[in-house]
Amino acid sequence: MKALIDLAVRARESAYAPYSNHPVGAAILTESGELFSGCNVENAAYPEGVCAEAGAISAMILAGEKQIQDVVIAGPGEHLCTPCGGCRQKIREFSTSKTQIHVVSRSGKINSFLFDELLPESFGPDCLDV
Ligand code: THU
Repeated sequence: MKALIDLAVRARESAYAPYSNHPVGAAILTESGELFSGCNVENAAYPEGVCAEAGAISAMILAGEKQIQDVVIAGPGEHLCTPCGGCRQKIREFSTSKTQIHVVSRSGKINSFLFDELLPESFGPDCLDV
């Protein structure tokens, strides 16, 4: 877990967040043991910014991985920087009933959740079965 936390914290240091001043780093551990990270990248056209989790998911998919075991999100302050609604849905696509989300504050305080606690009764690929 320490390696995953360090990766998320390092990713936060690369964030491009000049508009919100809210840098975020995210790191994913896949079920096969691979690590991926991402940071938020904002844009002068505000809605075009992307979240840290989205970047980490893109890196994971690029590497051919699809099952998320853990996600660490490193926020900029002491408040809980839980994933936004859109990112919860993005993580949902690649989560299992065991997937955990760990939110780390700047001082290193960790809060852990089962993914299902953050997005209960969620809509996923299986819901498209008819
Ligand atoms: N942000 C993330 O990167 N992940 C989240 O789950 C919540 C919000 C970013 C988006 C924006 O660049 C900044 O934090 C403020 O909302």
